[in-house]
Amino acid sequence: MMPVSGQLFDNADPDGSERIGEGTVLFRGRLADRAEEIIDAIRQIAEPSPFRHLITPGGHRMSVSMTSCGELGWMSDRKGYRYTSTDPRNNQPWPAMPSLLADLATAAAADAGFDHYRPDACLINRYRPGTKLSLHQDKDERDPSHPVVSFSLGLPATFLWGGFKRSDKPQRLLLEHGDILVFGGPDRLRYHGILPLPDGEHPLLGAQRINLTFRKAG
Ligand code: SIN
Ligand code: FE2
Repeated sequence: MMPVSGQLFDNADPDGSERIGEGTVLFRGRLADRAEEIIDAIRQIAEPSPFRHLITPGGHRMSVSMTSCGELGWMSDRKGYRYTSTDPRNNQPWPAMPSLLADLATAAAADAGFDHYRPDACLINRYRPGTKLSLHQDKDERDPSHPVVSFSLGLPATFLWGGFKRSDKPQRLLLEHGDILVFGGPDRLRYHGILPLPDGEHPLLGAQRINLTFRKAG
């Protein structure tokens, strides 16, 4: 047996991944050396389809601003939550999902134990200091047997990783620049959210955090 570094927990692999639950794996820092390319790709997506604050079915303006790429984009308005094939702002298809992003998501899913994953939707969330995301389940996708793959860039945030009822007390997990979190299988429908983003300044992104969530939605 190789000696294991003192920093690693017994749920950590030598490659730096940590199994958080039966269907949940965190790969810390895995994107760090691709971050500039990814941020560049996000800038190109945001040209035709800029970040916007969506309205919840209950009429609240979300504090997170969002855009999407891929065949399907996630939408919310007075009529409800759903996926659309076009951006309602310009009635054009959502920008294509760059293969750089899809390939990184596929590889992380495979390393977490989910083979043959090919996302068709990528929701891009932008958090400014003070922005939060309330506890929710990702359940607008047709077939929840496919995992969700999440990339974090920029300022660190506290991710709430809950149970199957909104009232279940969540664990707290720090998601930092370059981290990938994969959740699927028995953990796919857990409640989750983000605590208000603390102030800060990231060298690549300034006072913001960007999160990408990949899904097979259609
Ligand atoms: C989400 O649940 O849609 C995003 C989670 C995150 O920002 O890490
Ligand atoms: Fe979510």
